[in-house]
Amino acid sequence: MRVCITGSKGMLGYDLARRLKSGYEIIGVDIDDFDIVNKDVIDFLLAQKPDFLFHFAAYTNVDKAEREKEKAYEVNVSGTKNIVTACKILDIPLVFISTDYVFDGRKKTPYREDDNPEPINFYGETKRDGEKVIIAILKRYFIVRTSWLFGKNGKNFVKSIFSLAQEKENIAVVDDQQGSPTYTSDLAVSLEMFIHSVQYGIYHITNSGLCTWFDFAEKIISLSGGKSVVSPIKSENLKRFAKRPQNSVLDNTLFETKFCYKMPSWEDALGRYLIEDRDSKE
Ligand SMILES: NC(=O)c1ccc[n+]([C@@H]2O[C@H](COP(=O)([O-])OP(=O)(O)OC[C@H]3O[C@@H](n4cnc5c(N)ncnc54)[C@H](OP(=O)(O)O)[C@@H]3O)[C@@H](O)[C@H]2O)c1
Repeated sequence: MRVCITGSKGMLGYDLARRLKSGYEIIGVDIDDFDIVNKDVIDFLLAQKPDFLFHFAAYTNVDKAEREKEKAYEVNVSGTKNIVTACKILDIPLVFISTDYVFDGRKKTPYREDDNPEPINFYGETKRDGEKVIIAILKRYFIVRTSWLFGKNGKNFVKSIFSLAQEKENIAVVDDQQGSPTYTSDLAVSLEMFIHSVQYGIYHITNSGLCTWFDFAEKIISLSGGKSVVSPIKSENLKRFAKRPQNSVLDNTLFETKFCYKMPSWEDALGRYLIEDRDSKE
């Protein structure tokens, strides 16, 4: 079976490709091979004839997206439309990764799949528009909203805190945004289940449990044996171009029920990630 992964060299793409490589023929598409904004990517995919497609390639810099709106829109919406067009012609299912940032964060409980997306930053708008393109054109799709990704092959919060802890005694981190950190390697386990499934639709999938960025930073420092002190600050004191939702915890119940699988807790995931990261450096 031929499985295409766009964004195959990114953080999630790398872990999924690693997971699938023994059982599937992988067709990787990343910016060095093909720009998904260029319509030629459609002909490329038609020639490659994949049986299933994971679409991860995206403009993912949330703050920069506020200043590079045209570029973010092109990649996340026009690029997605090219990928979807190819899936439609090939008549194959697609998995699209969307985000907790499609929600405004005002809900007090975890977001469900049928809650109304109301993004408060431009990146979230482009991902919501990408979802709309898929729903309008395809019947066989899985839209997976996830959050706060960390993994071996990409810049992420865990790596940032880990390196700050080497230099600083005190690290200030916001304590007024809560969500669920998610290990790309754990998400890849769930995503593989879609390949042979016909339970199409929208799913929320994150590691289980929730925390603030402050809690997350404290756990990173304690599990990695660091000595830095983490101090809580408010988002308004951290000048960033894009707003973030205060609550972006996603409710995994639909996925867990339909696929009879519970995602590990974020603390467990973080522990395994830190051990794997340490072992790979030794
Ligand atoms: N990271 C998170 O916390 C998070 C949370 C929720 C949802 N998501 C979604 O999850 C998916 C995977 O995220 P990730 O963190 O693994 O992303 P990532 O590491 O940024 O990987 C995306 C990959 O796509 C490539 N790419 C960008 N523009 C492209 C283009 N025009 N044509 C072809 N390839 C292109 C990127 O190349 P460059 O690196 O050179 O740009 C990168 O290799 C994305 O769709 C993202 O929106 C991420």
